[in-house]
Formats: sequence, C-alpha cells, structure tokens
Amino acid sequence: MKNIVLLGPPGAGKGTQARRLVEGRGMVQLSTGDMLRDAQKSGTEMGRKVADVMARGDLVTDEIVIGLVDERMRAGSPGGFIFDGFPRTLAQADALGALLGRTGRKLDAVIEMRVDDDALVRRISGRFSCRSCGEVYHDDTKPTSKPGICDKCGSSDLFRRPDDNAESLKTRLMEYYKKTSPLIGYYYALGDLFSIDGLAEIDDVAKSIEAILDESPAA
Ligand code: AP5
Repeated sequence: MKNIVLLGPPGAGKGTQARRLVEGRGMVQLSTGDMLRDAQKSGTEMGRKVADVMARGDLVTDEIVIGLVDERMRAGSPGGFIFDGFPRTLAQADALGALLGRTGRKLDAVIEMRVDDDALVRRISGRFSCRSCGEVYHDDTKPTSKPGICDKCGSSDLFRRPDDNAESLKTRLMEYYKKTSPLIGYYYALGDLFSIDGLAEIDDVAKSIEAILDESPAA
C-alpha cells in the first residue's frame, strides 16, 4: 500500500495522473477540489460558504478542508491514498501527517510536478471535463475522439470549470506560490520529496510517477 501526494500548481496535471493511478493501481484519489465541488452541488451549508471563495481562486479554510479529508480517510483505502490538491498549506501538511499517523501509516512519496507558468495558462484555458464521469480533456492536447462526446462514458454533458478564467487563475497561482510552494522545502526536509517534469507528455509523466511508486518502499 502506498500513500502519495501529487503537489503542483493549478493545471500541473495532478487530477489527470491521479485518475490513471486509480485505474491502474486501485488507489483512492482524494481530491479536495472535487470534494469541495461535490459539497457545492449537493447544496450543503458548507458548499454555499465555499462557492465564492473557490470562484475567486482563493483557498478554502484549513479547518473545512482538513475536516473533509479526515472524514474521507476514515473510510480507508486498502490500495493507499493519492492526495490530489491536499495539502496546500503548512497547517494542512502537519494535519496530514497526524491523520496518517492515527492509523500507523505514513507518506511514501510527495511528487512535485514541475510545469512553467505559460504552460499552466494554456492548459487551464483549454480544459473541459465530463460532468458524468469526471474525465478531463483539453482542446489541443487531449480532445475527445467525437466532438462533444466523452470517450470514457459517452455522455454529452461536457463543461468548463467556472474558476478556469484569467482572473481566478491569477489568484490561484498567487495562492500556490505564497502558501503551497513552501511545502516543497517542508517535504524535502522530511526526505519525502520527488520532483518530476510535468511538461512531458501525459504518458511519460505517468511513467515517471510509476517509477517512483515502484522504487519507494511500502509503508
Ligand atoms: P483543485 O480542483 O484542486 O484545482 P487546482 O489545484 O487549481 O488544480 P486543477 O484541478 O486546476 O489542475 P490539475 O493539476 O488537476 O490539472 P489537470 O489534470 O486537470 O482546487 C480548486 C479550488 O478548490 C482551489 O482554487 C481552492 O479554492 C479549493 N481547494 C481545493 N483544495 C484545497 C485545499 N487543500 N485547501 C484550500 N482550498 C482548496 O490538467 C489540466 C489540463 O491540462 C487538462 O486539460 C489536461 O488534459 C491537461 N494536461 C494534463 N497533463 C498534461 C500533460 N502532461 N501535457 C499536456 N496537457 C496536460
């Protein structure tokens, strides 16, 4: 069983790679972005509270996010967890260590996906997703085979995220550099950090991640 963090700015490819690991290795993807969007869809009080924050591109409070992760981790995952978009602050990183420690687990690897800012803007501005199965596409690098139809589940309900606009992206990048990028040093100091080239082709990025997973000893 492996527990890993995919760490990177918006558009680095965290979700794309996490979904491949779920299919290939039976790991559980724990995406705080998806969990917060689900809370918005289901109309909970918390979902309403975070909607504006997310649309602006600001970070949701540590308390809310850590609470969601705690709840989800209690359901367990025999194949291990892929933390996608969590932790994003030093407080969240400390909390993750404590949550894993509760069940005698630890992180096996924190994989930093390095992508330059120009590429992030191109990726975010061309992204669209399937509302039915969650598959993520891109106008240029990963279009659907048939226009308007999801390759994976056949749904025609494809959409673009409301925070994928120039103004929110600027805020999301600032939040990443101010609050999340210090985690690179944090995990380096703990000896958990691996850095990979997130600019490579999707298949090649996947191979780099697989190599790290196969090398790092199981928890
Ligand atoms: P979240 O949903 O986590 O968004 P994000 O971190 O901004 O990351 P993205 O989902 O935008 O990008 P990704 O790295 O998954 O890239 P993807 O694989 O889709 O968070 C949204 C909001 O929720 C936050 O702004 C915040 O408000 C809140 N939030 C979430 N977690 C929080 C937390 N822990 N604390 C506080 N607040 C939190 O790929 C992008 C595009 O590029 C796709 O079109 C894809 O097809 C394409 N692509 C992927 N890989 C490649 C490649 N190798 N080559 C070419 N194209 C590629």
